[in-house]
Amino acid sequence: MRAVAFLSAASALGAALAVAAPRDPAHDLYERDLFRRNIVTDGQIADSYDYIIVGGGTAGLVLANRLSEDSNTSVLVLEAGDTGEAVQNQIDIPSMTYYDSLVGTSYDWSYTTTAQTNVSDRALTWPRGKVLGGSSAINGMYLVRPNALEINEWATLVENGSEWNWDNLFADMKKSETYSAPVSSVQSVLNVQANTSAHGTDGPIHASYPGYVLPAVGDWTETLNAIGIASSSDPDSGDGWGSFIATSAINPSNWTRSYSRSGYIDPLPPRSNLAILPNATVTKLVLANATGGMAAQSVQYASSKTATASTVTVNKEVILAAGAIGSPQILMVSGVGPEDVLQAAGVTVNVALPGVGQHLMDHIYAEVQWKTNDETGATMYYSNYSSGAPTTSTPALSFINSATSYVNFSALVSDAETYASQIAAAVDASAALVPSQYSEVVEGYKAIYNLTAQKLLMSSVGHMEILLTLTGAGESDQQIIAIQAALQHPFSQGRLYINSSSVFDAPVIDPQYLSHEADLTTLREGLKLCRIIGNTAPLSANMVEETNPGSSVQTDDEWEAWLVDNVYTEYHPSCSCAMLPEAQGGVVGADLKVYGLTNVRVADSSVFPFEFAAHLQAPVYGLAEQAASMIKGTYTNVDPSTASASASASASSASATGSSDQKSGAAGIAAPAWTAVVGLVGVLAGAALVL
Ligand SMILES: Cc1cc2nc3c(=O)[nH]c(=O)nc-3n(C[C@H](O)[C@H](O)[C@H](O)COP(=O)(O)OP(=O)(O)OC[C@H]3O[C@@H](n4cnc5c(N)ncnc54)[C@H](O)[C@@H]3O)c2cc1C
Ligand SMILES: *[C@@H]1O[C@H](CO)[C@@H](O)[C@H](O)[C@H]1NC(C)=O
Ligand SMILES: *[C@@H]1O[C@H](CO)[C@@H](O)[C@H](O)[C@H]1NC(C)=O
Ligand SMILES: *[C@@H]1O[C@H](CO)[C@@H](O)[C@H](O)[C@H]1NC(C)=O
Ligand SMILES: *[C@@H]1O[C@H](CO)[C@@H](O)[C@H](O)[C@H]1NC(C)=O
Ligand SMILES: *[C@@H]1O[C@H](CO)[C@@H](O)[C@H](O)[C@H]1NC(C)=O
Ligand SMILES: *[C@@H]1O[C@H](CO)[C@@H](O)[C@H](O)[C@H]1NC(C)=O
Ligand SMILES: *[C@@H]1O[C@H](CO)[C@@H](O)[C@H](O)[C@H]1NC(C)=O
Ligand SMILES: *[C@@H]1O[C@H](CO)[C@@H](O)[C@H](O)[C@H]1NC(C)=O
Ligand SMILES: *[C@@H]1O[C@H](CO)[C@@H](O)[C@H](O)[C@H]1NC(C)=O
Ligand SMILES: *[C@@H]1O[C@H](CO)[C@@H](O)[C@H](O)[C@H]1NC(C)=O
Ligand SMILES: *[C@@H]1O[C@H](CO)[C@@H](O)[C@H](O)[C@H]1NC(C)=O
Repeated sequence: MRAVAFLSAASALGAALAVAAPRDPAHDLYERDLFRRNIVTDGQIADSYDYIIVGGGTAGLVLANRLSEDSNTSVLVLEAGDTGEAVQNQIDIPSMTYYDSLVGTSYDWSYTTTAQTNVSDRALTWPRGKVLGGSSAINGMYLVRPNALEINEWATLVENGSEWNWDNLFADMKKSETYSAPVSSVQSVLNVQANTSAHGTDGPIHASYPGYVLPAVGDWTETLNAIGIASSSDPDSGDGWGSFIATSAINPSNWTRSYSRSGYIDPLPPRSNLAILPNATVTKLVLANATGGMAAQSVQYASSKTATASTVTVNKEVILAAGAIGSPQILMVSGVGPEDVLQAAGVTVNVALPGVGQHLMDHIYAEVQWKTNDETGATMYYSNYSSGAPTTSTPALSFINSATSYVNFSALVSDAETYASQIAAAVDASAALVPSQYSEVVEGYKAIYNLTAQKLLMSSVGHMEILLTLTGAGESDQQIIAIQAALQHPFSQGRLYINSSSVFDAPVIDPQYLSHEADLTTLREGLKLCRIIGNTAPLSANMVEETNPGSSVQTDDEWEAWLVDNVYTEYHPSCSCAMLPEAQGGVVGADLKVYGLTNVRVADSSVFPFEFAAHLQAPVYGLAEQAASMIKGTYTNVDPSTASASASASASSASATGSSDQKSGAAGIAAPAWTAVVGLVGVLAGAALVL
């Protein structure tokens, strides 16, 4: 029973510390600290766990915390990236996200799209965090919530989907956060009228504001009001339209980034039922035939492409939380996905599921830039730290962008009603753009298209995010103020797919940016609006002259020719394991379970069925909280007549050190019926763990 090994590994560490072996004491402290956080540093784990969470990113660490609240349930997290301890300042200090970023380092997956036909054949880079905390460890810290209308529409898209409604997501986004009002010097610039009942008071993630803001931030809402874009007084209660100052994931006690690891893992006491294994890339799920579909019996992982893979057995469920690229990729290398893709990659088809990797969408942006003579985030940073990076944060080092607005379709284009109905009428013609031979995927495209065209365009929900960036454009371009336009509800959908059976080979990513003409038109109009905003008082007082694109770009054709060379990702890829009906190319149902698999769920940014007018981390936190409650509830309500009496050895030998928040109670441990079936067909490998 390898569960014992799991526990004895812990006592071996304790013994090493107790005898004060001739080791660097700082190293011992470091190890002890990791152990406290349930992070495994010696590779020693048990041979089976109740839940195996694939990916220790934004959603994955929420699930790890919540599912291990029940001390009788064993939880393993397998994370491809390292702990992040070696680069902790770059994670923690907010302004280093701009000036000494982990993007492009080994803590970033650094994906690249295929050459994008409609954006000048450019291949764009797609960063994703590869570290405990995932993308929440490297992102821009905006905490912005979607609109209630969007989430309530999500509830209508899938059978039994009514739980995915605004009230539930709102409650869970609140549960994930602790809100703090701005400090008084910042409040005197921002003048935010925070609605405290829209916020959480004791959740793991800090929702707050920087400790210092440049004066131009205070010009934002007034400038937008001057051109008819109202301020949203309560953007976090489901009315995320109009202009406002967003909350940021910043801990105001020391002006550091608040992310899934610092919020959900670091404060935990040791939990012997929780193990988090870094440097463990999941290479595939081992599936076996079972009643009602196929079941994952174990998970394989390895530290590199050439290393021998290890195997760990799952007692209850695998939860994929590897993000919008990783989760569909893992399904495909495990034989779950579009048959044409799997066959071409030489992967045996276990479950033909045409929607895996499809419906891929992203937010893209371009920005208009002005020269300024005023201070920017960049001038502050480089004038103080040109000769050495900061080692602790300060209020000034927590300055990040947060002035934003979500501008609706009718404020973007003239004769919006006519244009919206033209777009809606083009659904069938537009379906020719879908990169799949399977009719289910085309139906899903149409469902998302219809929802966007018929329900979102003529509503108050923002179609374009327009945001202010005062952080400069790098060390050589410090005196720049920019206004960005980012398309929120694209009609262009793409896909990602594998062309290799190895998870270590990046998937092919083709978002088909701007393949739908309406996207090009509305983004162009958004950029024209950026120019108007920059030329409107009081913000215009900060601008000296427009430097990019500059006065040579005036006509619609000129804007379009310019923008296709200047769009980039806003870092919000999503929908690649969409929660939609199977007949619409869906990958998961309302219970987050992958169609055709009995014990595999996906719970991360890949399951959103369409893009929201928001940055994605707030809805990911809400989704992960909701997923954890749902999963705990499943086993609480399990029918005792079909449940086996034995829980996993590792679980039953675990000592109860977890938190007292055990909502699902003690009943949450019965083995699901499939384990018996898997055992019957004789495929449940006993001691398959290779360490
Ligand atoms: C540079 C950048 C800036 C952003 N800015 C913002 C912002 O300001 N505000 C905002 O709200 N959102 C922002 N986002 C988006 C937001 O961070 C993501 O949408 C969100 O964090 C995604 O959460 P997730 O759990 O789906 O995936 P992730 O947080 O990416 O987690 C996936 C995890 O799975 C791991 N993984 C992947 N494959 C495997 C495998 N085979 N085996 C084991 N582990 C694996 C990854 O290493 C990662 O840790 C930004 C993203 C980036 C990259
Ligand atoms: C992860 O791998 C890196 C590179 O080999 C190594 O430096 C680091 O110590 C490993 N981390 C853990 C927690 O094992
Ligand atoms: C919806 O719920 C019903 C009742 O629990 C169930 O029979 C049905 O299979 C569910 N449908 C889907 C697609 O999950
Ligand atoms: C504050 O938020 C609550 C909860 O969303 C909402 O019911 C209320 O209307 C909001 N109040 C104001 C003044 O916006
Ligand atoms: C910031 O404060 C939190 C407590 O709120 C603490 O856990 C964390 O370690 C601190 N971070 C740094 C870098 O000091
Ligand atoms: C599952 O059953 C099918 C049909 O009997 C068989 O072709 C397939 O090989 C089985 N798959 C596995 C992984 O056992
Ligand atoms: C950094 O330099 C700027 C001058 O550019 C100054 O205003 C600011 O107070 C300095 N301090 C910090 C901590 O940024
Ligand atoms: C989309 O809307 C069109 C026009 O209203 C309708 O004919 C079609 O059935 C809808 N398709 C889907 C998949 O919702
Ligand atoms: C769209 O925004 C404009 C400008 O803020 C506003 O006047 C209009 O009422 C909004 N339209 C809808 C349908 O919400
Ligand atoms: C897979 O696609 C990538 C890029 O999209 C390419 O570099 C690689 O050569 C392809 N591999 C195979 C085996 O076709
Ligand atoms: C995208 O590029 C293709 C190929 O050049 C072209 O046929 C199509 O019209 C373009 N779409 C848009 C919206 O410009
Ligand atoms: C833990 O699970 C075992 C095995 O099902 C059970 O006997 C025991 O009562 C449970 N303990 C708690 C505290 O729930």
